[in-house]
This record gives sequence, structure tokens and C-alpha cells, in this order.
Amino acid sequence: MGSTNLAEHKVDAVVIGAGPGGYHAAIRLGQLGKSVICVDRDEVGGVCLNWGCIPTKALLHVGEVVRHIDHAAAIGLKVPKADVDREGVAKFKSDVVASNVGGVKTLFKANGVQFLYGEASFKSPTEIVVKNKDGGTDTVVAQNVVIATGSAPIDVKAWPRDGESIINSDDAVQMKRIPKTMLVIGGGVIGLEFATVYTRLGAQVLVIEALPQILTGTDAEISKTLGRILKKQGVEIMLDTKVGAIAKSGDVVKATFNGAGTNGKDETRAFDMVLVAVGRRPITDNLNLAAAGLSTDDKGFVAVDQQLRTKVGSVFAIGDVTGQPMLAHRAMKQGVIAAEAISGDKSAAFDPIAIPNCVYTDPEVATIGLSEEEAKAKGYEVRIGKFPLAASGRARTMNESDGVIKLVGDAKTDLLLGMHIVAPQAESLIGEGVIALEMGATLEDIGLSIHPHPTLTEGIMDAAEAAHGKAIHIVNPKPKAPVAK
Ligand code: NAI
Repeated sequence: MGSTNLAEHKVDAVVIGAGPGGYHAAIRLGQLGKSVICVDRDEVGGVCLNWGCIPTKALLHVGEVVRHIDHAAAIGLKVPKADVDREGVAKFKSDVVASNVGGVKTLFKANGVQFLYGEASFKSPTEIVVKNKDGGTDTVVAQNVVIATGSAPIDVKAWPRDGESIINSDDAVQMKRIPKTMLVIGGGVIGLEFATVYTRLGAQVLVIEALPQILTGTDAEISKTLGRILKKQGVEIMLDTKVGAIAKSGDVVKATFNGAGTNGKDETRAFDMVLVAVGRRPITDNLNLAAAGLSTDDKGFVAVDQQLRTKVGSVFAIGDVTGQPMLAHRAMKQGVIAAEAISGDKSAAFDPIAIPNCVYTDPEVATIGLSEEEAKAKGYEVRIGKFPLAASGRARTMNESDGVIKLVGDAKTDLLLGMHIVAPQAESLIGEGVIALEMGATLEDIGLSIHPHPTLTEGIMDAAEAAHGKAIHIVNPKPKAPVAK
């Protein structure tokens, strides 16, 4: 039976993908009075709402509550150990997802965005075919197209995913079971966030990272601080170590690995579950980009200019398909800029000074701008200001004093170059770094700004003061001897 053509739609713009980038673009287009259709083969909200940011953060919140219960005695509370009801936890996570998805659907309606459910591909730069689940097709003719198809976990052929004992992040978030022992391959953000969740819920977790540090690219001191804290929490971490063969054997998966973590010898261990978290890849497979006159680079990304325009002027691309960093907040802002550019705003441009990066371990890591190593590599003479959480009155009241706030500045101009935090609520604290970097603040500006007391944000002020050797709450490092003239 041939497929049926259900309908032909004519709109100003069609957005392919209803993830954070796509839904931002669609809603902003609606706000600007454009007729817009947003297409997705899956639920509204994309990876962020359905599989990534939101559900993992719900699980991490549960993990954090477990930790508070575990440590309740330290603050004078007698609380029995948390008894994890896996189904209850999974339901909490699903309810959070459902209410977020519902919110976006409401915003679509309120802004006149029509949602089409199906797989979209290009027929020409201005024509999109949408294959519905029942085999029928819709055609959308649009003056502008926004590609917002996102990314998916990289699956490694040698470690075939079965969704049960060899899993990726999409499976891990489903929480079908809590293993007794778990191997996490990849000490990146996904690996460490799930290592945190599953450790809290009772699993014994080993993280194996091929490179010499976790969170490669992050300031080395910050990465080491997090590694130390995670180890204290019971997460085993092997750096500079590679996983080779993985084989299912009955109820367990046997993995062989070798590297610095095994003193250069092959080691084989059995695990109940193996999570492969070695990166994500852009999704453009089914788009038929060629029909739009487009192609991808050798990594699979679609090239765009500052307005998010591809080389075909009427076709835009935003989010993970356009390159690193693959972060929801980058995609969101790009979606808004693309919508404004489509609506004729010539000044609309995506040109951030820096993009913040948050890792929702417990405590969290949040960074923005240059790490100390990056600043030095760029030729800056750096001025560092550090404030350990152990010296923060507010952190002590929370019984959470493990962590550090580190500022990287340019010794010549005093300008802030980077802010790096390991602390509870680091993801919120970094907002100060976002504004400071965008506004061109100096370390002195930050140190002179009166921060409320008692708060964790004071630590940022203290770190800035420490950079000038005048922090009050710590013994300031001795200034370096003046350079002989
Ligand atoms: P990633 O690139 O951050 O980390 C993957 C790690 O796996 C790397 O450190 C790599 O060296 C390691 N690796 C690769 N092959 C390996 C092997 N054979 N053995 C051992 N280690 C190996 O990728 P990840 O964690 O999968 O995250 C993907 C993307 O998702 C990131 O770009 C991130 O931006 C985004 N994301 C962001 C989150 C957030 O903002 N909180 C949360 C989750 C994902």
C-alpha cells in the first residue's frame, strides 16, 4: 500500500526538532508573528526534557536527598537510612518530565506554534516531508527552515547495547533497575552524573576514563577536586585507562581494561551493568540534507554563521547539530537568535563571550571562561584567586564545606578570564561569572561588590579579594617576589 499524502501546509517557518533549541526557535517565531510548524518524531522537549537535563536532574536531586539523610546524624538528627523505592523514584522523575513537556505544549498553543508528529526530511530547501507513524506524509512548504535535530549517544560497536546490562544514557535514565556493581566507561559529564546517581542509590561504581583527567578540558585543579570528592563518596575512578573487550556472561558483563589504573596490566572484572558514556554525535542521518543543498563536515556537524544561517540562506541550524559545546542553554539562545534573524533583525547574532558549563555531580561543578591552563596557553600572565569552601560560614551552616571557588584573571589588566566552582549550587553561583565575563568585570570589581552575608556567593567575592592578597576569611597566599627589573 502506498503512503497517503495527508496535508500540505504553507508557513513562514518550519522548525525540525522540538528540543530546547527547536522549541525556543518556534516559540520566538510565534511571538514575532510568524506562522510556524515545529516537527518532531518524538515527544515535545527533545533530549533535554525527556532523556537528559530534566530527568537526570530529578534523579540527582533524589540522590542528594539520600546524602542528606545519610549525613543527618552530623547535624543532630536521628533519621533511619533511606529505603530506595526504585519505582517511586522513577515515577517522580517521569512526573517532572511530564509537567515540563506539558508546559512547552501550553506555550506552543499560546504562541500559535503548530506541532507535527513525524520524521522530517528535506525535499528541497523550502519543502519538508513529514512521515507520520502510520505511513502517511505531510508536506510543509516554508520560507525558512530551522534544523534543530540535536544529538544522540555514541554507541560503540564492540560493546553492543542491549538496554539492560550494556546501556547508554537513554537507558540509564529509565532506572529499570539499580545494579550492585556498575562500570561507567567515560569520565565526562554524563558518566560522572550517572556515577553520582547510581552510587547514591546503592550501586558500587567504577568510572574508567581513557584520558589523564575526568572532565577533560576543565581546569585541572577543579577536575582533581571533584575526583577527590567523588572518591570520598565511594566512586572508584581509573584515569588513563582504556576498556577493551566486554562480554556478557550469564547475569554479568565481564570487562577487561588496562592502563594507569591497573598498573599497565590487563584486569578483568564482572559488573551487573555497564554504562557507555563516551560522547554524543549530531543527528542528521534521515534529513536528506543534500536535497537542501547542504552537507555536514567530517564530524557530522552543519556549519552556520553568527546568525545561525547555513550556506543556504533560508535554512538555519541550531544546537548540537552545529557543534560543541553540546549544551541545552547554547541551543536555546541560538534558537532565539535564529528566530529573530528570520524575522528580519539584522543585528541578531550569536556571539557569547563564553558559555557556562555545569556538571550536576554532588557537589556540582560549574565553569565559565578560560581555565588556568587555557589562559596560560593563550599567553596570559594569570592572576589566580581561590577560596576554599571550608572557610565559608554559609557552607559550614549547610555542613557542605568541601569545594573551592577559583577565579582566573589577567594579571596585566585585572580582567576576569574564567570562573570555576566546585560547590553545592555551583550551577546557580556561576550566573555571577556569566554576567561578570559578559560585562567585562575585573577581579577588583568583583571584590568590591558587596555580596550578601551569609551566602555561598560571598566566596566569589572572597576569591576575587584573594587574587589581590586581601581576602579576610583566609590566610592570603604570600605575594610572589617582585620581578627584578
Ligand atoms: P564527553 O565527551 O563529555 O565525555 C566522554 C568521555 O569518555 C571523555 O572524557 C573521553 O575521553 C572518554 N572516553 C572515550 N572513549 C573512551 C574509552 N574507550 N574508554 C574510556 N573512556 C573513554 O561525553 P558525554 O559525557 O557522553 O557527554 C556528551 C555531551 O553531552 C557533552 O558534550 C555534554 O556537553 C553534554 N551533556 C551536558 C550535560 C550538562 O550540561 N550537565 C549533561 C549531560 C550531557
